[in-house]
Order: sequence, then C-alpha cells, then structure tokens
Amino acid sequence: MMDDQNSLKPPEVLQHIKVDTAALGFQMASEPLTGALLRTLAATKPAGRFLELGTGTGVSTAWLLDGMDEASHLISVENDADCIAVAKQYLGNDHRVSFHTEDAAVLLATLPKQQFDFIFADTWAGKYTHLEDTLQLLKPGGLYVIDDMLPQSSGPEGHAAKVLKLIAALENNAALVLTKMKWSSGIIIAACVESHSKL
Ligand SMILES: C[S@@+](CC[C@H](N)C(=O)[O-])C[C@H]1O[C@@H](n2cnc3c(N)ncnc32)[C@H](O)[C@@H]1O
Repeated sequence: MMDDQNSLKPPEVLQHIKVDTAALGFQMASEPLTGALLRTLAATKPAGRFLELGTGTGVSTAWLLDGMDEASHLISVENDADCIAVAKQYLGNDHRVSFHTEDAAVLLATLPKQQFDFIFADTWAGKYTHLEDTLQLLKPGGLYVIDDMLPQSSGPEGHAAKVLKLIAALENNAALVLTKMKWSSGIIIAACVESHSKL
C-alpha cells in the first residue's frame, strides 16, 4: 500500500533550519507533506517567478527552492526579523531567492500584476486579507497555493470562520480552478485560467 510519509527526501539544508527553528520556539513551519507538494509543484514551473508570503524560518522556502530550476526566482517576505534571519543564514546564498523583511501587505502593493507563476500564501496578508490583490499578481496558468485549511491545534481564535470565508471567496472566483485537499494541514491549489479579467 502507498505510504505518503515514505521517501520524502527533504532538502539537506532543512535539518539545520529545523534546529534553529526549534531553538526559536517557532511552531508554524509547514509540514513535510506540504513541503513535498510545494517542491513538486515548483518543479512544474521552469524559469518560474515565485512569491512566498510568510517565510517563517525558511522551511517552506527550502522545499520550494529544492523544486525550482536554476532560471527560476523566488521573492519571500516575512515581518519577523528573528525568523527570517534563520532563512537568510541557510538559504541567503542561493541566487534564486530574494528575502524581504517587511509587512507582506506593503510588499504586495508594490508588485506588478500578472507577474507570478506560483504564489504560496502562508500568512494573513494574501489569504485572509488582501486576497484580491494577491490573486491579481498571478499570470494566467499560475498557481495559488495555501495550507493550514484544516483545524489547527495552535490556530488562532476564529480560524475556522476565516477559513470558510476564504474558501467561499476562492470558490466564487470565476477565474480560478481549484482543488481542496483534506491532506497534510489542509491544502488548496487554485489555478488561474486565461480569463484573467474576471479577477
Ligand atoms: C505560517 S507562518 C509561515 C511558515 C513558513 N511559510 C513555513 O512553512 O515554514 C506565518 C508567518 O507569517 C509571518 N507574518 C505575520 N504577519 C505578517 C505580515 N504582516 N507580513 C509578513 N509576514 C507576516 C509570521 O511571523 C510567520 O512567520
């Protein structure tokens, strides 16, 4: 029988990031299954333009970079300087990633529309706020990916209601084709169709 936990082959750098993540007491890092999915999806976008909202300590960043080819580029934003310092320490030498230490909402406002092939939205801005602004950044054919859609043990109060509202907004968006997965922490993958003007 298939075992989805088997043979995940995480990027080697992750073992170092995880040590520093634990030392910081940071508990919001993506699960390994989510990371593996991000890596696979990243590999479908050669020379892709990637955006990650909420770097954390760089766990999901490491998975994304592991799937991206040499011609791809990732912008990753995080407003907690201690967290992003871990990501920078272990991934900052990779020429394919630019780290931004600022409010994701501020960065979103500076980015040109229809620029990204792939957006992993893993903080409030781009998910529970600024959703339309974020979706406008997708190229036709681009993917918008979110996790933590299932109830979280450490989730903030009101998480379930926010999730339902977000899912409804995505389902009602005619420019998106989406799949909801009750797997890992609860994933949604949405593809932006050609009729981008509907966004
Ligand atoms: C779920 S965690 C990200 C985890 C990371 N993507 C990973 O998988 O390891 C959400 C992150 O968003 C950051 N954050 C919260 N508000 C933010 C904001 N306004 N702008 C940027 N980052 C923010 C938090 O500090 C936290 O590190």
